[in-house]
Amino acid sequence: MIQKVLVVNGPNLGRLGVRQPDVYGHDNFAKLVEDCKQWGAQLKLDVDVRQTDDESQMVSWMHEAADNEYAVVMNPAAFTHYSYALADAAHMVLDAGMPLIEVHISNPAARDTFRKHSVISPVATSTITGLGFLGYRLALEAVQEITSK
Ligand code: DQA
Repeated sequence: MIQKVLVVNGPNLGRLGVRQPDVYGHDNFAKLVEDCKQWGAQLKLDVDVRQTDDESQMVSWMHEAADNEYAVVMNPAAFTHYSYALADAAHMVLDAGMPLIEVHISNPAARDTFRKHSVISPVATSTITGLGFLGYRLALEAVQEITSK
């Protein structure tokens, strides 16, 4: 069975390309979707890339992943730093036996003080930061490796 992976992206990531290109690069969200789809095809994963600015939508997607045993690659964006609701929902994905890889395009540890703390990291299977879109590829590789065991 081909493993489904939700690649979920939080607030303002739909603005990639125009939002602080010095930090997040010049490629837009459509390019991220295209890249993830291509990497998914190479890795034989069914990749579904989504973005929302809405916390409750992110939480619902975690419920969907837990209920259907989808793996998750998550860039929680600003929710990273304060959403206990999302952390609790992310926990349900692990409880369902699925990996959840946290990805950040930038390296939050090297930026503003409020970005140094992630409420998602304690729940995540792994966290990848500071590698741009490459972080998503590495996360998908990790999902492939973990779920094929
Ligand atoms: C981010 C880092 C967060 O601190 C920030 O709020 C984002 C993007 C990243 O991908 O580097 O929106 O998650």
